[in-house]
Amino acid sequence: MKLQLVPLSAEEKLRLQAQLLNAVEQAILAVDLTGRIVFWNRFAATLYGWTVEEVQGRNIVEVLASPLLMESARANLEQLRRGEGWSGEFLVQRRDGTTFMAHISASLIQSESRTLISIVGIPRDGTEHQQLQEANRLLAEAGALLNDTVDYEAPLTTLAQLAVPQLADWCAVHLLQADGSIEQVALAPAEMAANQVSRLQAAYDWLQNHLPKDDADGLPAVLRSGEPKLVTDVASDLWAAAAAIKSYMIVPLVARPQTFGAITFVAAESGRRFDLNALALAENLVSHFAIYLEKARLFRESQRLHAELEQRVSEHTTELRAAVAQLKQSEATIQTLFRISNKLNATLDVETILDELAQEAIRIVNGEGGFAGLRTADGMTMRKYFRQGEAFSFEHTWLLGQGIPGWVLKYKVPYGTSDAAHDPVIQHELTINADVRSIICTPILDSVGEVLGYFDIRNKQDDEGFTISDQEMLMALAPAASIAIQNALAYQQRLATVGELKESSRQLQALAANLELAREEERTQIARELHDQLGQALTAMKFDLVWLTDQLGQKNATLAQKVKTVTAQMDTMIKTVRRIATELRPGMLDDLGLAASIEWQARDFEKRTGIVCAVSVSAEDVPLPRAQSVALFRIFQEALTNVARHASAQHIEVKLAATPEAVTLQVHDDGRGIQPQKIAGLHSLGLLGMRERAKRLGGTFDIQGVPGDGTIVKVSIPFKQSE
Ligand SMILES: Nc1ncnc2c1ncn2[C@@H]1O[C@H](COP(=O)(O)OP(=O)(O)OP(=O)(O)O)[C@@H](O)[C@H]1O
Ligand SMILES: [Mg+2]
Repeated sequence: MKLQLVPLSAEEKLRLQAQLLNAVEQAILAVDLTGRIVFWNRFAATLYGWTVEEVQGRNIVEVLASPLLMESARANLEQLRRGEGWSGEFLVQRRDGTTFMAHISASLIQSESRTLISIVGIPRDGTEHQQLQEANRLLAEAGALLNDTVDYEAPLTTLAQLAVPQLADWCAVHLLQADGSIEQVALAPAEMAANQVSRLQAAYDWLQNHLPKDDADGLPAVLRSGEPKLVTDVASDLWAAAAAIKSYMIVPLVARPQTFGAITFVAAESGRRFDLNALALAENLVSHFAIYLEKARLFRESQRLHAELEQRVSEHTTELRAAVAQLKQSEATIQTLFRISNKLNATLDVETILDELAQEAIRIVNGEGGFAGLRTADGMTMRKYFRQGEAFSFEHTWLLGQGIPGWVLKYKVPYGTSDAAHDPVIQHELTINADVRSIICTPILDSVGEVLGYFDIRNKQDDEGFTISDQEMLMALAPAASIAIQNALAYQQRLATVGELKESSRQLQALAANLELAREEERTQIARELHDQLGQALTAMKFDLVWLTDQLGQKNATLAQKVKTVTAQMDTMIKTVRRIATELRPGMLDDLGLAASIEWQARDFEKRTGIVCAVSVSAEDVPLPRAQSVALFRIFQEALTNVARHASAQHIEVKLAATPEAVTLQVHDDGRGIQPQKIAGLHSLGLLGMRERAKRLGGTFDIQGVPGDGTIVKVSIPFKQSE
């Protein structure tokens, strides 16, 4: 039976077609050439989540968020017109924002009135999954490779190599240079087989030269915008086509905030074409790399900074070391100068100072020999010369302007030479200048800048000649030497003055002693005359008067009585003359000795003044020479007189003690005590006399007032007078 198809009305036909399209398990939609949706089947509504009413009239790019889809469709319009279908993998977006890969194929629908593009989409979940796995594997591999590396260029090559062949047939890395140019830094595959050379050469050339300059579809736009570029089909690019390149994608290398390079993945001989999925994977891969690169860059930067820091630290350390060394050096110099200065100032003997100075100066500049001398009225003198630690006598005087010391005296500054043999100033004829090679002669100036002396150091041991620093050392030594010499000279002068003073005082003492001696002799003379002449005359007269009394007794009682009175007066007179004679010349000193004389004087004093006088004598016989005995006795007499006149004392204790060396006399009263200011009183002739007498005989004299315990006079005189 022949089944006759019932002819359908145009309206019925359309409805049926629509129903058929709605029954298909593929998303089928149609857009006009601007992309506006004119048809949307039921499965499209299920797959994408938009109802037909919602999408009617809207642009497909807005709805599926896939500009590439439209771009590709438009780009392949010619192909579509020829009736050839066009298909590709696209990442599309559902209404809820989730995305999935779909295999999209497009074809042209031509009616009388308008041209539409029909688009059929089949979800490609399986492919997506597989690619995701591939991507993860790549990333893991990349991560493992990169985790340990901090190098910069190497990972770029690694990245390129990783991408080939899994992800692309070619992979090139370009970096933006400081001057704005773009340079290819890595390429995979790096090697090419000989039979492929010409074709590969074209690809290399394209990547190397064409891509960096292609402002529309090449690197500049990507580097500028920081957005990736996907070219699914390079058919329009002559150069790329010549290199058999099918498709490529450029992914920027971003280190916020700037894009510093890009990685280009190229599909060529494999015939594959990149889609959004591949781009997403590449982006993911590259973003990982960017992090590693950033890490590497930071590490490199930190290493650079570290190195710079180390460099600076080491520079500073070197500087610091030098400064410290210098400081140590100058400290050592100061210490040396200080030590020498102390040494020079430890003595007041000018010759010793000059010797020390010469030897120390030789030592600090490492010289062989030298000498130091004083300036006198004649010029610069020397007495001693040091050489290799030994001293030699050598007396010489340089007149002003003569030889090197004379030159130094004239100009008051150091003179140095490293070539003594040809020196115009040195006196070559002098024997001490015989084998001199180098010299530094330094003046020693006093506080007003006059030359006081000098030191002349010779022959640097190492034979290089003296250095500036040697000269500086010696100049630094000069002030210390100057002070020491000035002190010593001043001391010498003082010593001379003191000597003169001592001499004149010695002469004065001798004179006084002579005077005293003369006085004592005179006293002795007078005493003898008083005693012998006057005393005897008076005694004779007394006997005459006694006789006269006897004769007158019976005849004239009145007269006899008168003569008796005269006789009594004569007795008193004789006693007085005796006393005066005794006081003038204590004859008992000769007759009785010192101890008895003192005892006698004490008794006499007691009788006259009523002040109790206790005398103790350690040795009965004190065989003191006459001069010493007289001095002690006179001192005793003056001490007693002072007690009577000033002390208001009741008792006196007198002690006379003798040791084999000296005789000591102490007179201790219990009066008011002498006031300290009286002791030093220059006009107290009594005290002065006592002190003088003791001193003249090499003894000591001391008087002390003890408040509440009177005054103690203590005098000690040696047996032998020390000269
Ligand atoms: N034993 C004493 N007790 C208290 N004062 C004394 C004593 N001896 C001396 N002086 C004081 O020391 C002073 C000095 O004595 P010094 O013998 O030198 O002089 P002077 O007795 O006053 O006079 P002269 O020159 O006649 O001796 C006395 O004026 C007296 O004030
Ligand atoms: Mg007196």
